[in-house]
Amino acid sequence: MDLTTAIQTRASVGALTEPAPEGAVLMRLLEAGAAAPDHGRLRPWRFILVRGAARERLGAVFAAALARSVPEATAPMLERERAKPLRAPLILVVAAHVVAHPKVPAIEQILAAGAAAQNILLAAHAAGFGAMWRTGEPSYDAGVKAAFGLAPEDAIVGFLYLGTAREAAAPRPRPAPEAREWAGPGALRPL
Ligand SMILES: Cc1cc2nc3c(=O)[nH]c(=O)nc-3n(C[C@H](O)[C@H](O)[C@H](O)COP(=O)(O)O)c2cc1C
Repeated sequence: MDLTTAIQTRASVGALTEPAPEGAVLMRLLEAGAAAPDHGRLRPWRFILVRGAARERLGAVFAAALARSVPEATAPMLERERAKPLRAPLILVVAAHVVAHPKVPAIEQILAAGAAAQNILLAAHAAGFGAMWRTGEPSYDAGVKAAFGLAPEDAIVGFLYLGTAREAAAPRPRPAPEAREWAGPGALRPL
């Protein structure tokens, strides 16, 4: 699949099942991530795989985070949180390890990790796998970050849920790009 086709036909897939990418294919996805643009060659991205029974342990980490942030969370709410990582056979946590740098602010390090995440989604789609980029409260929780060996100032840019689509995804209509042409200060014209 050529790149333009991959970009035009990629759509998030929420309903995922086995098999997940593994072996050489999985390595290709990670290499696609590591090929992202990266100011200062800081290699800020961190890729952490969660699969098999570790997904249940991640569910416990998610539920503990919810119990901390919402002490009045009910048992069904905690159970829903606990089950979230079971929505796909593989979760690829994409994080940015953020360092103080004189030329590369934190946002650029996080953007590089975001570009890595998108590269991975496209590579997964091109290899015939389904994927969905998710975040939610756990992404911003210091306890969840710590469970992955990340510092509070690091960023979880996404939990990429990966596997095989249960059903073929319908083509998704995409919005027309909103672009303007700039001719000078204050002079923006529609294309
Ligand atoms: C940074 C980021 C975080 C996201 N987090 C969630 C999420 O937690 N839950 C969710 O349902 N969709 C989330 N999405 C949106 C989906 O990944 C997806 O992009 C959206 O459903 C539109 O589908 P599409 O990718 O086919 O355009 C997130 C997207 C991005 C870029």
